[in-house]
Amino acid sequence: MNETALEVITKVLDGSESGKREAAAILRRDGIVALPTETVYGLAGNALSLKALNKIYEAKNRPADNPLIWHVHSAECALKLFDRKAMREGVLKRFELLAEHFWPGPLTLVAKKAPGLPGALASIAVRIPRPALTLDILRDVNFPLAMPSANLSSRPSPTSCLHVLKTLNGRIDAIVDGGTCDGGVESTVLLIDEPRPKILRQGLISRTKLALVLDESVITHQKEQGPLASPGQAYLHYAPAVGRISLQSARETVTAWREGHTIIGRKLDIDELKRKNKPRPSCALTIALDNDPEHFAQTLYGALYEAEERPQSELILVMPPTSEPWAAILDRLTRAAGGSSGF
Ligand code: TXA
Ligand code: MG
Repeated sequence: MNETALEVITKVLDGSESGKREAAAILRRDGIVALPTETVYGLAGNALSLKALNKIYEAKNRPADNPLIWHVHSAECALKLFDRKAMREGVLKRFELLAEHFWPGPLTLVAKKAPGLPGALASIAVRIPRPALTLDILRDVNFPLAMPSANLSSRPSPTSCLHVLKTLNGRIDAIVDGGTCDGGVESTVLLIDEPRPKILRQGLISRTKLALVLDESVITHQKEQGPLASPGQAYLHYAPAVGRISLQSARETVTAWREGHTIIGRKLDIDELKRKNKPRPSCALTIALDNDPEHFAQTLYGALYEAEERPQSELILVMPPTSEPWAAILDRLTRAAGGSSGF
């Protein structure tokens, strides 16, 4: 983490034994701490403490009706959070297959929650994060951690300690700096106790991979199918603080380029734009991301934060392919541009 212009108020801990111990102590006192995960940084608090939960909602300025994902360190702990008795036939098998293949990892499972747990919804969303240091803290505190992404509501999710500080500096008790997140976009949220498993939010694990492991078809929630099953999908998300943001096809970006705006896209689209449209306008900024969706995802939110360095500029996001490996990225770009991708 290096940022000279920013006065760091929130305590930054490292992943050493003493750093982890201190983070756990803060969490035990109902404090809130940003922790690295393999997707994005999460803002952790004791999921069983109303005081800690209130602090998370307040720090993020998060709408009260948007529920949080519970993070645990083992599949056994996760299963205790679900209402086993209410599970339809076959749902336990789904849980076991998915937990075995994808946990720890970027998959969040949703099913009816066990009696007695807090929260207005009848369901609960649970996952096991991958980084060893976050798992160590989960084991140390030995209670589930509620962890939404560690950003102010509506802003891009953070994939580094510096991104967390950009929107939550002074609003949270501490950050454990675990370097840059590998995945770059959030977990896939999957509802498992319906006749067909249903993706509520696109994420790092694709529908095809899920279907392969489950050996059954997996559907994706479409907006037209009625009320949103995942409340968070109704809100503005991932928007950097710049002038107008739009999602355009590669061909359309020529105008923005000539007018000197900021353009984020795949390297091959940016290279073509530059090759076909010379000379280069003096004030245009292009941010070229990898042509491969996995690497594109890793740097996407960082690019959105970089675009904020030119707050007066318009931001143009170049439309990626619409094939499945790009589904989560297309969803995030569409939402950043203020639209709804239908999921
Ligand atoms: O990768 C991730 O999932 C990250 C890291 C930190 O784990 N977390 C994350 O949390 O993205 P958040 O709060 O930014 O997004 C959680 C999403 C929201 O869309 C929320 O509405 C949905 O999960 N969700 C939470 N509980 C739910 C439930 N019981 N039923 C349906 N959707 C739920
Ligand atoms: Mg979020």
